[in-house]
Amino acid sequence: MDQHKNNQQLLAEESPAFSKAARVKYYNIVIESGSGAEITDADGRTYIDLLASASATNTGHSHPHIVKAIQDQAAKLIQYTPAYFASAPEAALAPRLTALAPISGDVALAWGNSGSDANDAIIKFARAYTGRQNVVSFTGAYHGSTYGSISVSAVSLNMSRKIGPLLPGVVKVPYPDPWQRLDGESEDAFVDRMFAAFKLPFETYLPAEEVAVILIEPIQGDGGIVKAPDAYIHKVYDFAKANGILFAVDEVNQGMGRTGKWWSIEHFGIEPDLMSVGKSLASGLPLSAVMGRAEIMNSLGSPAHVFTTAGNPVTTAAAAATMDVIEDEHLLDRSAKLGAIAKDYFENAKKKYDFIGDVRMYGLDGGIDIIDSKTGKGDDEATTKLIYRVFELGAIIISLRGNVLRFQPPLVITEEQLNKTFKIFDQAFEELSQGKLSLPDNADEIGW
Ligand SMILES: Cc1ncc(COP(=O)(O)O)c(C=O)c1O
Repeated sequence: MDQHKNNQQLLAEESPAFSKAARVKYYNIVIESGSGAEITDADGRTYIDLLASASATNTGHSHPHIVKAIQDQAAKLIQYTPAYFASAPEAALAPRLTALAPISGDVALAWGNSGSDANDAIIKFARAYTGRQNVVSFTGAYHGSTYGSISVSAVSLNMSRKIGPLLPGVVKVPYPDPWQRLDGESEDAFVDRMFAAFKLPFETYLPAEEVAVILIEPIQGDGGIVKAPDAYIHKVYDFAKANGILFAVDEVNQGMGRTGKWWSIEHFGIEPDLMSVGKSLASGLPLSAVMGRAEIMNSLGSPAHVFTTAGNPVTTAAAAATMDVIEDEHLLDRSAKLGAIAKDYFENAKKKYDFIGDVRMYGLDGGIDIIDSKTGKGDDEATTKLIYRVFELGAIIISLRGNVLRFQPPLVITEEQLNKTFKIFDQAFEELSQGKLSLPDNADEIGW
């Protein structure tokens, strides 16, 4: 029998064989098992998971209903490629998923293996349907790691450094995040100013009739859990419609119940033309989809968008079981309800600690800024101290942008686990305020 290996041994084994480009470093642990909102590492330590595998396990770890669906399907048929033949779970899932899309009229989809390729698909189908080449996306966006999706992203220099040229025909405009807002600026003035910045390329070098699609995260994930102002999204949408430009949303991170609704765009009452879905779609098994108005989705002929394993029987069975769990366990309501409790907690903590800045929470989907109280600017060092202390005390949380706490637990987290989480934060916040926390040895490696 194999001897059980601990975190350190496993990481030492992996290290020489693993590219540093493929992991954003936080803690030196190896995840061995998970159940609900908890994960256990190879040293046998159990943590409350406030990251949910980057919002890919909204139904929690190894949910019994989903495990059974995967096991049953694996015993029957693991793979036959939908590129040639449908399988029963895949055929059943396609109409079930398109029925959930917040798009009226006929909706069709194409499967993928990752959120990244679903966003590539948005570019392909939008170009094909409109006969136009240009794509507009936003600063702070994370759309993925393939050449297409990385080309429309703008959240880390390491995502474009050394790998150019990226996809041509991409124009980026500033996302209306709170860090762009001027002191004392009203929401209306902010929206007007940001919309003027959005229009500037169109007024100076980018003919609107040559733009295929505007791709946006209505709530940015890796950009810091930030919701664009409602009026801004409506202005951009109206501009797109007035100019024959498709309006596409990336729901990979914020969809599947994360924000208390199936899709984050539902908070705005807007129907997109195209949308990408992934991550929690199959509870973390590799399945994604691009969905859109059927006429757009039929603007390319085969085999313009096929992948051998995309939409395979096991992943689509897992997705159906995931949807069952979201419906049966009322996870949309649960996200909204527990998210409101979490919002209260962090708002109250903000009253007590002046290093807590803006608190954003949309369902169980939070970004909490840690700031230097004297300057009001982000405090990356304090953030790293905090997340590391929270980790030591038994919960996994990471930072975004250097100074944003990313709060995205599985939606099945229990109230007891949530309260335990708050106790951990109480202690870490208090220790930070008393100057008791220090940076971990590997602080310079930690984070984005
Ligand atoms: C909003 C968003 N889009 C796309 C992706 C890419 O998904 P994947 O990593 O599955 O390719 C991510 C991943 O973090 C994401 O957050």
